This record gives sequence, C-alpha cells and structure tokens, in this order.
Amino acid sequence: MTQGNEPIIVFDHVVKEFTVRGAKKTMRAVDDVSLSIDEGDIFGIIGYSGAGKSTLVRMINALEQPTSGTVTVMGNDVSHMGEGRLRPVRQKIGMIFQQFNLFSQKTVAQNIAYPLRLDHWRKDYQDRRVKELLEFVGLAEHADKYPSQLSGGQKQRVGIARALATNPKILLADEATSALDPETTTEVLQLLERVNRQLGITIVLITHQMNVVQQIANRVAVMSSGKVVEQGSVYDVFAAPKQPVTKRFIATAMDGLPDPARIAVMREQWPGRLVTVVIRQRDIVDANGDVLVPASGQDISDLIAAHGIHSGLLYGGIDTVQDIAIGAVTYEFTGDPAKIDAFLDDLARGSDIVDFGTKDAPIDYDTAVARAHIADAPAPHGAQGTPTLADDLEMVEDVDDVVEMNPDTARKERD
Ligand SMILES: Nc1ncnc2c1ncn2[C@@H]1O[C@H](COP(=O)(O)OP(=O)(O)O)[C@@H](O)[C@H]1O
Ligand SMILES: [Mg+2]
Repeated sequence: MTQGNEPIIVFDHVVKEFTVRGAKKTMRAVDDVSLSIDEGDIFGIIGYSGAGKSTLVRMINALEQPTSGTVTVMGNDVSHMGEGRLRPVRQKIGMIFQQFNLFSQKTVAQNIAYPLRLDHWRKDYQDRRVKELLEFVGLAEHADKYPSQLSGGQKQRVGIARALATNPKILLADEATSALDPETTTEVLQLLERVNRQLGITIVLITHQMNVVQQIANRVAVMSSGKVVEQGSVYDVFAAPKQPVTKRFIATAMDGLPDPARIAVMREQWPGRLVTVVIRQRDIVDANGDVLVPASGQDISDLIAAHGIHSGLLYGGIDTVQDIAIGAVTYEFTGDPAKIDAFLDDLARGSDIVDFGTKDAPIDYDTAVARAHIADAPAPHGAQGTPTLADDLEMVEDVDDVVEMNPDTARKERD
C-alpha cells in the first residue's frame, strides 16, 4: 500500500440527521464522527446494518449533506459546496456498489465508457481508455457481452472499471463484495488491492464482513449506532479490540456456520446430533492480559474421548486474524443420547456451541442459533434482552444503495 500519510478525507464532528416521515422526529444516522483517511489508505469502515456506514460514505461525494460538521475531501469542504463546484471533485471519486448498478442494455464496454461519454471524451480516447480498463480488470474477452451474461464477480469487475474510468483519486466501495461468494470476494478484493497499489487510489471500504477488512484494509473504523467507536490500524484494532462491538466482530467470525439450507441437507444425510462449535484458538487478551474474548472449542477432542461418544466432522471454516484461528466446525455426534447430552453440557462450559438437534428431534434453525450465547457479547443497539448469535447473524445488508448512475439522474446532471 502506498502510504502518503496526508489526509485526503477528513470528517470533523459530522452529524447527519434524517427526518422520520410522518413523525415530527429526527433520527441521527451519523453521530459526531471525526475521522481522517490518509492518501493511499485502504480504509475499512465496519459495522452492522444500520450503523450509519452508507450515510457516512455518501457524504464523501456529497450525495448527502451533513446536518452539522464538515467533510473535507482533497482539500475541498464538500459539505458547503454548490453542485457546480462539486462536479470536478466528484469526478475524482469513483464508487462501486453491492448490486453492481450496471446498465443491463449496455455492453460491458459501453458500461465502462459511460462516465467518459458524460465527461465528453473524444471517441478514440474513450475507446483506448476502455480497452486499458478491460485489460486491467481482466475482462478483455468480454467487452461485447451484456451484464446478464456475466458472473457476479465479473459484474463487479465491470463496476470497478467504470468507477476507474475518469482516473479518480478515491474509490468508495459500499458493500462491494457482499453479494459475492467467498472465493469471488477474494478475487475482487485482490483487484481492489491492485487498484490501491498500482494506481495509488485511496479506497474506502464499507462492509459488515470482518474478513473483508482483514484481507486488504490497513486501517479500520468500527461504527455502531452512528458513532465511530474505535479506529486505528487493522492490527491494533483486531489484536486488542476495546469496544464491545469490535469484540463481537472478532468473536463471531462465523465463516464456518452452516446456513439453514445446509443444515437441512446435512440432517438428511446424518441423522445424529448436529452441533456447530465455535473455534477460537486462544483467548483474546488486552494489554493487561485480561481476557476480552475467551478461547472456544479447545478441549473438544478430549471431551469426545472422555465421554465415549462418536463424532464425525461435517462442515466448517477456520480463518485467522493476526495469528488467531477463528471459525466454526459442525459435527455429527452419535451414541447414547444421555452421554451426548452430558458431553454437550461439558463442552458448552468452555465453548460457544449451536445445537441443531437430531433428525428425529430437530431444533429449529433460528431457535438453535438464538440459544447459542456468545461469550462476552453485549446487547446490540436497540435489541432487548440477552444478545445471541442470532443478532450477529442479522448482518445482512438491506439493498439500500441508490442507483447513482441511473440514466435519468445522469441525464439531469448533464443537462
Ligand atoms: N434517506 C434516509 N432517510 C431516513 N433515514 C435514513 C436514510 N438513509 C439512512 N437512514 C437511516 O439511517 C440509519 C443508518 O443507515 P445506513 O447509513 O444505511 O447504515 P448502514 O449502511 O451502516 O447499514 C438507518 O437507521 C437508516 O434507516
Ligand atoms: Mg449500507
């Protein structure tokens, strides 16, 4: 990562309030955020759905205006600029989205050329630039295809190429990999890393997925209820998380948790007790050695042996954050049901588990997940009662990206 160390985006005590329709109330989507993003950063902004991430990022290209405070981008106070003066600043900011927002009736090449047409580039310059971009994102062979003929990862590559067309200095990525499978996510993240390294473009990476931040960001801010509750280098924040919400992100890297459909399939094949065990290789401790998040799943082999039951490992995923292995594995336990119960009681003492029951006595997925209490997890914003794994799984982002580049808005802007 090219480290310019000069701030390129600065939020200074930024507040954004929305008026709640019908009621004479306002709600604070962004609550007194001060944040500085340096040139050359891949800056992750992580938080659960509704934390205010999209609102925050939309103030960078002035799609939203702050209620108070200022947003400075490349030296310009974009929070107090007219549309006319904003134009050249916006041209230096590319944006990509979860739903790609491509024009379905345009080819790949035409999609990429679109911002160049808006910017009145000469046709031969346009063609040359599109060719360059197609090569950069690895889609040279697909220039004349339509978006419907592409995979999700390819569509996002087109989105990236289009965002890069006018040589921006900043790329805003709002949940850009949230609609992609893990493998494709990694490919797209590697491309973003190249965008950062080779082109020197500062990337603001909005996500609710910890592994996205972990894979490519150098700095991270954690958002909760409109506030930035923690920020720093990815290493510092993940190695010694201070805030409850940050701990939860780390505690619940549930890559290996099977989804309901997977559980249904497994149940048919393996009629025994299906149990997911959260794996954390070791305690996560703070600078004083106090345990922030306890280890989990460490004693499972010993316990299986001690209780004389049978186990089969069915499903799982383990990842590492700063050398700490975390994830989840799903077992089928068979044998004397009373022994299995005793074993699970023992296991649950030192580990986070999700008990899905057996084929004959299944535990409903949501119930199972809701019963699985995560160590040290505080109540999420607005939720009642004890936080459960279910809260952590409600991280699915609403499809709330406005289609910024739809033909109508673009036409208005041009006229
Ligand atoms: N245009 C809007 N009008 C009213 N409320 C909004 C608007 N945009 C966002 N919000 C609210 O602001 C909060 C933060 O939303 P958002 O920034 O989209 O969060 P995130 O991207 O972290 O999921 C949410 O409660 C959302 O409903
Ligand atoms: Mg959002």
